[in-house]
Amino acid sequence: MSKKGVFIVFEGIDGSGKTTQVDLLAAALTEKGRDVVICRDPGGTGLGEGLRNVLLYSPGPIDPVAEALMYGAARAQLVAERILPAVRGGSVVISDRFSHSMLAYQGWGKGLDRGFLENVNRYACRGLTPDLTVLLEIDPLLAISRLTRPADRMEKEGVGFLRRVRNGFLALAQESPHHYLVLDSAAPAEELFLRVLAAVYGILG
Ligand code: TMP
Repeated sequence: MSKKGVFIVFEGIDGSGKTTQVDLLAAALTEKGRDVVICRDPGGTGLGEGLRNVLLYSPGPIDPVAEALMYGAARAQLVAERILPAVRGGSVVISDRFSHSMLAYQGWGKGLDRGFLENVNRYACRGLTPDLTVLLEIDPLLAISRLTRPADRMEKEGVGFLRRVRNGFLALAQESPHHYLVLDSAAPAEELFLRVLAAVYGILG
């Protein structure tokens, strides 16, 4: 019998430990014999990685609407080129961020209109929604102290910005409690991973 495709997303502010959990989950599912595709948003395609570079490292100013449209463009390409074909082919796709990052960062963080952002996401995602979103919850000051590399353009927005983004993620999780797993990322990575695994097994059946 062919396996059902599944789409899992990790969200959280920068420094919340998403990448560690993505890698642990991918390794565990691969071990169980699942086809696993990992991607990151923005990124994961030629176009997306190019846009990511501009979005995170552009030295010049970027207008917030232009910024949102570039995140949307990166996501549209990622969905069309990688995520949808993989999910339809029966893979488990694990994405480091997705559409709710835009609502949290450009909406809560930068104050752009939610309706506009939802519309961009609607076209970019082509009806695809995550089966599960894991929100790694963390205090922005702790998150910043965990970063081991120089801050990128978004991280340079400061702690007040990250606090608004964090509140955005929490509000979004409350709006869809059945599709979110909210974890306190101050806990040890292995402990978090066991919770993630239990939730993912619940979906895989
Ligand atoms: P990361 O992949 O290393 O977490 O970096 C991506 C950065 O882009 C991060 O600061 C969050 C930000 N971002 C947005 O502002 N809007 C979006 O739609 C997405 C996907 C990410």
